[in-house]
Amino acid sequence: MKKILVLLSLCFILISGLYADTLVAYFSYTGEAQELAITVADVLDADLFQVVPSLSYTDEEVNRKNKDSRYAFEAGHPGSRPAFDGSIDASSYDTIVLVYPVWYRRCPNIMCTFVESLHLDGKKVVPLAVGKHWVKRSGKRLKKVADKGAIFVKAKRFNSDVLDQEIMDYLKSVID
Ligand SMILES: Cc1cc2nc3c(=O)[nH]c(=O)nc-3n(C[C@H](O)[C@H](O)[C@H](O)COP(=O)(O)O)c2cc1C
Repeated sequence: MKKILVLLSLCFILISGLYADTLVAYFSYTGEAQELAITVADVLDADLFQVVPSLSYTDEEVNRKNKDSRYAFEAGHPGSRPAFDGSIDASSYDTIVLVYPVWYRRCPNIMCTFVESLHLDGKKVVPLAVGKHWVKRSGKRLKKVADKGAIFVKAKRFNSDVLDQEIMDYLKSVID
């Protein structure tokens, strides 16, 4: 039994080490994407970066019923690029995992701002979305605005309460 435990721990350390060059970057408004991003960073032992809007959103601004809201503006102006705080140098990472909610049937514009700020040539990019619909479209959008040399995996939807093993199996299948 002890030997099995040691073996399992070694496997875990080995697998974690494999993903040490991974960055998990996320934007979240109500916390679902944040929960998923933390799970992903934990299972991969990866660095975590939060895309924090320079001008934070309020509930009224993301009210989908209000046609004059900031949400409505961004949905109607896909080229708008809300700023985020700070910056990150992605040069030391081979893989970037992007975690975000689906907004206005795409990804939030701020994720485009983020992706456009990175040099992604030759890097693998794994988009993971929370939300119910239009997940694939959200990934295609990010691919479109990223450096042409980025190697994009199709976007996949996960619930924020996904099991560690499930997320690990998926990431292993797309990152390796
Ligand atoms: C402004 C806004 C727009 C949204 N648009 C969509 C959408 O088009 N499709 C969808 O499936 N969910 C949509 N949702 C729901 C979110 O994707 C979902 O609630 C997600 O879990 C929220 O993630 P978060 O907690 O990380 O912010 C939208 C939510 C907000 C606030």
